[in-house]
Amino acid sequence: MLILGIEGTAHTLGVGIVDSEANVLANVIDMFRPPQGGLHPREAANHHADVVANDIVKAVEQAGVSLKDIDLISFSMGPGLGPCLKVAGTAARALSYSLGIPIVGVNHCIAHIEIGNATTGCTDPCLLYASGGNTQIIAYSDQRYRIFGETQDVGIGNMLDKLGRDLGLGFYAGPTIEKLAQDGDKLLDLPYSVKGMDISFSGILTAALAYKEKGCRLEDIAYSVQETAFSMLTEVTERAMAHIGKTEVLLGGGVAQNGRLREMVGEMAKERGGKMFVPERQFCRDNGAMIAWLGYRMYSSGVRMDISDTEVRQRFRTDEVPVTWRS
Ligand code: ATP
Ligand code: FE2
Repeated sequence: MLILGIEGTAHTLGVGIVDSEANVLANVIDMFRPPQGGLHPREAANHHADVVANDIVKAVEQAGVSLKDIDLISFSMGPGLGPCLKVAGTAARALSYSLGIPIVGVNHCIAHIEIGNATTGCTDPCLLYASGGNTQIIAYSDQRYRIFGETQDVGIGNMLDKLGRDLGLGFYAGPTIEKLAQDGDKLLDLPYSVKGMDISFSGILTAALAYKEKGCRLEDIAYSVQETAFSMLTEVTERAMAHIGKTEVLLGGGVAQNGRLREMVGEMAKERGGKMFVPERQFCRDNGAMIAWLGYRMYSSGVRMDISDTEVRQRFRTDEVPVTWRS
């Protein structure tokens, strides 16, 4: 069985093709980079609308198959930016309708977990999902992926991107901040906000920008922001693992590409006698292959959707989805 998945929750339009053994035959990733400033949902959606047809063709070529060989269409139903979600949804519905094949709308956050499980070999992890718009600690329990802790304000990646923009580092600042942080050595005092299992990042952002006004080195600011924010993430992840008795930790989301975050979470897992798993870079980012794979898992467990069930859901929560594909 061949599944084509379309991702379009935020700045990335992705088209992936996988088979029923989780072999990834194509994974076209097309990211919108705003010419200046932050991400405007409608501009990103316009980008997705411009490229989606061509990216579908590219994916089919990359996979060495024809559209007629595709058996199932899957797309990111949410959570995400409304205009972007609608483009992915419309493309998916059009394909499903014109090819006469079934369609499944999936939860983007769960797709990150399932592609991680399938490609890294972990079996029952606690997921630290750290991306631009999302920051959650998720684990499976009793037929749901449950959220054990999450950000109360912005996602960690959005905080890094906003910081980068205000420091003049350009958009998509995570990698630039990581590089700068390597040359930082002074740990500046920043608000460490963990409340119960939840965290928040906006205090760090405000305080970091105040250090810039005081003339502190960008390297030290970047270093301190990473150390503080990643410690918060590591602490909450560790507590979730202890609470539910899991030894595996899986990283997901764009920020999981950060070497320092990997180091901190990896050390924590090792100290607990557990293990950290990190998916390949292309699967940490938003991508279509993960959407295709979750679509397959849902479909093969009996989930069916009519076109009328595929309305996009901007605030689609991870724990709303009955996990029918795990025993
Ligand atoms: P989602 O829709 O799941 O919220 P997203 O649209 O933010 O995801 P991703 O590709 O998962 O997309 O993540 C992008 C984020 O990852 C950006 O905020 C970017 O700055 C951040 N990022 C990328 N590489 C790194 C890195 N090396 N260190 C820290 N952050 C990074
Ligand atoms: Fe994502």
